[in-house]
Amino acid sequence: PIKVVIIGGGSSYTPELIEGMLDRYESFPITNIVLVDIKEGEEKLETVGKLAKRMIKKAGKQIHLTWTLDRREALKDADFVTTQIRVGGLKAREKDERIPLSHGFIGQETNGAGGIMKAFRTIPVLMDIANDIHDICPNAWLINFTNPAGIIIEALIKYSHHKRVIGVCNIPLNMRHSVAEILAVKPSDIMIEFIGMNHFVFGSKIYVNGMERTEEVLAKLQEKLDYSPANIVSLGWTKELLESLKVLPNPYHDYYFHTREVLNQDVRAFRENGTRAEVVQQLEKGLFKLYSDSKLNAKPKELEERGGAYYSDVACSLMDSLYNNKGDVQTVNTINNGAIFDLPEDTVIEANCVITKDGPEPILVGNLPISIKGIILQMKNTEELVIQAALSGKYEDAYLAFLMNPLIGDEKMSKTLLNELLIAHKEQLPQF
Ligand code: G6P
Ligand code: MN
Ligand code: MN
Repeated sequence: PIKVVIIGGGSSYTPELIEGMLDRYESFPITNIVLVDIKEGEEKLETVGKLAKRMIKKAGKQIHLTWTLDRREALKDADFVTTQIRVGGLKAREKDERIPLSHGFIGQETNGAGGIMKAFRTIPVLMDIANDIHDICPNAWLINFTNPAGIIIEALIKYSHHKRVIGVCNIPLNMRHSVAEILAVKPSDIMIEFIGMNHFVFGSKIYVNGMERTEEVLAKLQEKLDYSPANIVSLGWTKELLESLKVLPNPYHDYYFHTREVLNQDVRAFRENGTRAEVVQQLEKGLFKLYSDSKLNAKPKELEERGGAYYSDVACSLMDSLYNNKGDVQTVNTINNGAIFDLPEDTVIEANCVITKDGPEPILVGNLPISIKGIILQMKNTEELVIQAALSGKYEDAYLAFLMNPLIGDEKMSKTLLNELLIAHKEQLPQF
């Protein structure tokens, strides 16, 4: 038997995961799925649970699916635990986006002040979950999509009891699909060497069926405007940037490399439609209306309006390879272990890894390219400051994390933003 526990099972993304598991049933024959959520999410949990049951029935598979609010009970005998939670819900995300924006700073769920606050709220909760797993099902793999996904995995690997943890994100796969589109080839023909961290990853070399074509992709990218997931509006990259960086940025680098322009655009979007969190709340309303229809028995197309496209492919391929000891290469968040010389051994990177039953082993990268070395070291350092503050709950640690973040970095504004955000999120920050 294979048992998968989905924590945050009431999420509108769950049909993605169910579809991914059904698609891989031949090689990864799951027998039990338990969806877990908290009291506030009970209604959504039931709606998603019923839809998932209809999807399984339509596929004609023998999978026993249940849902519960009792996390510890659900974890018994689990082989895989996935986490897709949002501490404080979309209301908290709204504050992470709106408050920095109102002071003229990027307001985003994983970057700048908003991303730091999300880490502060989420790390203690994921630590609890990981420690429960260690008690109840110590052999289970914890596969985390909860943002900020890389920072959370680093906190767990360093400070929780459970070490079988892996972080995933759809951005590397999105980038492969974008490059495939640019070159008019199949995504499976593309191999990108990824370097860096989650939502801060670069593609350093691009291969098509084993042939390196990095320069050609960078040249073509200048004409191609939009290769971003639904939640990021792409501004495109200039010839100058691409020719000097010589590596492929990810869509989130928009926030760092044209901060002012993105800010102006985000302010306009905010005036028109509110924050992304508000847009997502509307999308969710529509999605749950669809999910409640007892005739629906598949993942609806409307889910594509969320930023998480391909995320079930990433998560389910990973479980498949861990289970089958495949030894294939996938891009995940795991401990550096010497793959990148310039970063500490025990830090977490997003990298191409060989996946076996013992987990991911990153493929040797060596030294960071000189063009991106400085900014990667700085970001890694700020991630470590964020973890330190999330666990200590000390004001001075939190302030330092704000001050050193490249999207904040202003002495007085660090204080203004932090103070306002600490008050706004008081209920979800017991450690402060
Ligand atoms: C991308 C990121 C995810 C993030 C999502 C947000 O897919 O990789 O980590 O959660 O965008 O999408 P949303 O629809 O919630 O704005
Ligand atoms: Mn992501
Ligand atoms: Mn972009």
